[in-house]
Amino acid sequence: MASVPEIFQSMEYGPAPESGGPVQTWLERRGRNFGLFIGGRWSEPGRETFETLNPATAKPLTTLTQASPADIERAVAAARKVQPEWWALGGHSRARYLYAIARQVQKHSRFFAVLESLDNGKPIRESRDIDVPLVARHFYHHAGWAQLMEQELPEREPVGVIGQIIPWNFPLLMLAWKIAPALAMGNTVVLKPAEFTSLTALRFGELCEEIGLPAGVVNIVTGDGRAGEALVKHPDVDKIAFTGSTEVGRLIRQATAGTGKKLSLELGGKSPFIVFGDSDLDSVVEGVVDAIWFNQGQVCCAGSRILVQEGSQDRLVSKLKARMETLRVGDPLDKAVDMGAIIAPVQLEKIQQLVHRGEDEGATLWQPSWSCPRDGWFFPPTLFTEVSPAATIAQVEIFGPVVVLMTFRTPAEAVELANNTRYGLAASVWTENINLALDIAPQLKAGTVWINCTNVFDAASGFGGYRESGFGREGGREGLREYVRWRSDGQSVGRSGAGAQIRSRARSRRSAGSRAIALRSKASDRLTARPTGLPPIDRTAKLYIGGKQVRPDSGYSLLVLDRAGKQLGEVGQGNRKDIRNAVEAAHKAAGWARATAHARAQVLYYLAENLTARAEEFAARLQTFGGSGENEVALTIERMYIYAAWADKYDGAVHHTPHRNVTLAMPEPMGVLGVVAPAEWPLLGFVSTVLPAVALGNTVVAIPSAAAPLAATDLYQVLETSDLPDGVINIVTGDPRELGRILAAHDDVDGIWYFGDPETGAEVEGLSAGNMKRTWVEEAGSRDWASARLGAGQEFLEQATQVKNIWIPYGE
Ligand code: NAI
Repeated sequence: MASVPEIFQSMEYGPAPESGGPVQTWLERRGRNFGLFIGGRWSEPGRETFETLNPATAKPLTTLTQASPADIERAVAAARKVQPEWWALGGHSRARYLYAIARQVQKHSRFFAVLESLDNGKPIRESRDIDVPLVARHFYHHAGWAQLMEQELPEREPVGVIGQIIPWNFPLLMLAWKIAPALAMGNTVVLKPAEFTSLTALRFGELCEEIGLPAGVVNIVTGDGRAGEALVKHPDVDKIAFTGSTEVGRLIRQATAGTGKKLSLELGGKSPFIVFGDSDLDSVVEGVVDAIWFNQGQVCCAGSRILVQEGSQDRLVSKLKARMETLRVGDPLDKAVDMGAIIAPVQLEKIQQLVHRGEDEGATLWQPSWSCPRDGWFFPPTLFTEVSPAATIAQVEIFGPVVVLMTFRTPAEAVELANNTRYGLAASVWTENINLALDIAPQLKAGTVWINCTNVFDAASGFGGYRESGFGREGGREGLREYVRWRSDGQSVGRSGAGAQIRSRARSRRSAGSRAIALRSKASDRLTARPTGLPPIDRTAKLYIGGKQVRPDSGYSLLVLDRAGKQLGEVGQGNRKDIRNAVEAAHKAAGWARATAHARAQVLYYLAENLTARAEEFAARLQTFGGSGENEVALTIERMYIYAAWADKYDGAVHHTPHRNVTLAMPEPMGVLGVVAPAEWPLLGFVSTVLPAVALGNTVVAIPSAAAPLAATDLYQVLETSDLPDGVINIVTGDPRELGRILAAHDDVDGIWYFGDPETGAEVEGLSAGNMKRTWVEEAGSRDWASARLGAGQEFLEQATQVKNIWIPYGE
């Protein structure tokens, strides 16, 4: 044994193990063999089972059940049965249950922490001090939202039965992020934990029994991807909430396309960690530790790309190496350990392969001098320098304790490098200059930006991605939107759930527009001469791209008929190339997002003014398609006023996160939106869908109604005379189904709205999986566009934006 002076000399840690005793006793009591938790009951362990292992020892922990399709069926049925009762309980009762869950988590916090560390391999310090307290916080926070739902979200109702699929990196925390908001908003859930880490979810099932949660409100089904797939494909599930790999997210996007299921996806990342030359490098080093060695780097928002300003590189690298040398990797239950084990051999191999690839591609690897334990699956903290931005390790999510370091010269270059990824989950910015930090934050394509901090989370702040990191938010007021629908005409949720009601009503009403579609091809179909005897002046509406009226690439035009079948005019038949040009023009107009909200409002008011001046002409045009033209024009002008009004009033929020910081929740435009306008109100529908997007800073490629495109093409002159910058609104006429599909498949389109036939709507959702763009698809005829409540307002503004949360710490 070392003497005291020797210990002072070496300053070595002794072992400080947390006891695994109570957890082992529980596992024994459960026979180390678990069934499923369905309808408030535990099923017998199933016919097909699998083992879970302790990643730190590679030894078996328990045997679990692979849920069969029949099990998923039972779980969904149990959730469905109780959902109306759960909603009918009211916000106060649900708040009490959520509060009880939070209390129970706290009372058993150490048990949960130890179980999590045994099952996942994460250090007890993290499960005890970060994961489990955040779990309790999530249930407390959402108990509050349950209580406030009726007052704060009076026009919303639950989605119904939610299928939730979570990964292995934060098993209990992801459960809380999913279950707390779902239950608060009156939904019931079937949750499938990851196959590597189901134990805390199973223990959570017991907790639901302990607090007397009504049977079926929470159901836990274990198993691998097959069980997840069965849940995704189950027709009676109203929404899927998924966290995991982008690959599986894409499969789920495709599988849910056209089903009417609501969807939120929280996927991978390759988050930048930007260090400016004036930052406090000692804080930066601790930041890197939290960014990439937290949870062994198995974190979707891990700061895995350090971008450091030239001049600070050498000092930062030498400080980092010194710190890495002192990190301790070992037994996750040891309280003095910084890094635990990697989840499984398959993940360890993936990390090793990518690290070899990095070396092969010429980057320089550095690891500390000490070696990792040999039992279990461990990997040391790893730093790569001399990395090219295009290198595999700079682009691919490694999901391990590996960070790459690159340099930049100017702030503009930092932004360019930071955004040079298909992902957009999070980013950290390090500088002592708050002006610089707040200039950079909005330019980063990421759902969360941490200033001088990293990997901090709270239930009051939304978390989620841009681009291929997925869509939807978890936490904060913005996260609630994922678990509610707008009330359908004041009806309450019935047995089959709100979603099913909306869908079935929509199906029963065929598109009003489809009757009038009379598209005939060929420019050779000329208009007949007028009775005056003079040849007509050709009035073929062209396309409107980049502020110019341009001929369609196809060289074809489409004939437009009035409701009596008489020829009214022609419009250009847009194709793939026209869409490409329109998308390009919309990107060039991105400065619109940076115009002041006041300036955007002014343009919208000016549009209304110019339309008013030509109201009679528009009304007459609309009458030829049927309906009351005057009424439609009046409603359209009012709608222009509504969005001019909203342009500078759709505020963000300052979230009260319990650290010393302010968290700014900023709604940002999606970018370039494709909008396939509804057919049934040719002018009102067009303006009602295009203007909310434009009011909030998006630029748009719009496809007008096929039945009455002239109502939109007549707008060209109104647009041209209203100070609207070129490219903010681009209009491509043609077959909305075909053009909708082209827009959905276009990787430079950031979101798409499709109001039309359900078959194409399904294709639009499926095709959007290419770049994981957010979609909003509704069947024609399912919405009353004339209604100020249903045809305009907040729902449209929410769909037009994504929330970025910017964390700004203050104080010492
Ligand atoms: P994964 O995406 O396959 O698994 C996540 C969850 O989805 C698990 O519960 C799994 O059983 C389920 N699942 C798998 N296939 C499914 C399907 N077809 N339909 C429905 N559910 C399905 O992630 P995995 O295999 O555990 O890890 C693979 C890689 O994904 C990791 O190496 C890492 O790079 C990344 N990953 C990213 C996460 C993140 O939070 N961003 C979390 C976990 C993994």
